Amino acid sequence: MTRILVTGGAGGLGSKLVPRLRAGHNVRIGSSRPKPDDLASGLEWAQGDLLTGEGLAESVAGIETIVHCASSPFKKTWEADVEGTKRLLDAAKAAGVGHFYFISIVGVDRMTLPYYKAKYAAEQAIEASGIPFTILRATQFHTLLDAFMRQRFKRGPFLFVPGAAKFQLIDTSEVAAHMAETVKDGPSGRLPDIGGPDVLTGAEIAKPWLKVSGVRVIRVPVPALGPIGQLAKGLGCCPENKFGVITWAQWLEKTYGRSS
Ligand SMILES: NC(=O)c1ccc[n+]([C@@H]2O[C@H](COP(=O)([O-])OP(=O)(O)OC[C@H]3O[C@@H](n4cnc5c(N)ncnc54)[C@H](OP(=O)(O)O)[C@@H]3O)[C@@H](O)[C@H]2O)c1
Repeated sequence: MTRILVTGGAGGLGSKLVPRLRAGHNVRIGSSRPKPDDLASGLEWAQGDLLTGEGLAESVAGIETIVHCASSPFKKTWEADVEGTKRLLDAAKAAGVGHFYFISIVGVDRMTLPYYKAKYAAEQAIEASGIPFTILRATQFHTLLDAFMRQRFKRGPFLFVPGAAKFQLIDTSEVAAHMAETVKDGPSGRLPDIGGPDVLTGAEIAKPWLKVSGVRVIRVPVPALGPIGQLAKGLGCCPENKFGVITWAQWLEKTYGRSS
């Protein structure tokens, strides 16, 4: 059985991936936090910080494959996602890791959002590392837009919706399932991108969300300038690769228990 380290293994994607990997592998969860008391039996835990490098050598010791899901999109992004990935690669190289599997985002090479630039720079560092690798780019998860509606687009009584931006939302568990399947193939380079079943605009995403979430706000359209203009051109989508089958409407119904 392969021994796999899943960085960010307790995060949104990682927590869907770890149970799927457990069937055929020994799994170690990588996290910046200490081991929780209620860790499921059979799982290993390694505390390691991408920002400082502390604990990374111990995290990768005895590991054959790293699935790198850890990321810090809103805080010290370049330090964690680019410099931190380089620190992890150095530790991986020193430990003789044979496969580095990275989850990235569709369009990172054609958009100017700072987070996307960091993801693309991390991809390039992986490709240059000499460690056999796999890179999978996925579109935005349903959970991301749901969180954005609540925490980023909402300001007091207003919801600032990038109405023209296009998203091809995919279910996190479908991404995790694909990763668990493809990691078995060993280092495969860049895999075909994966996206959800539909390309929707921000307006088409916000309307049913407002209906089921019960949040009462005044919708304010955000003009399609800069990165939003790039999203409006569909640069974050891959309509030719509709992989996921769970729609936004289905996800909302499952999550909020109400049909949109
Ligand atoms: N969300 C999307 O729509 C989407 C779409 C395509 C690709 N992706 C990619 O999928 C990956 C996972 O995304 P997600 O939505 O599951 O994110 P997430 O829930 O935020 O998980 C990322 C994890 O990274 C860990 N982390 C953050 N800073 C760290 C540090 N300094 N050292 C070590 N670990 C650190 C955190 O775990 P601890 O708190 O346990 O340390 C966090 O839970 C990311 O690489 C993201 O770019 C996401």
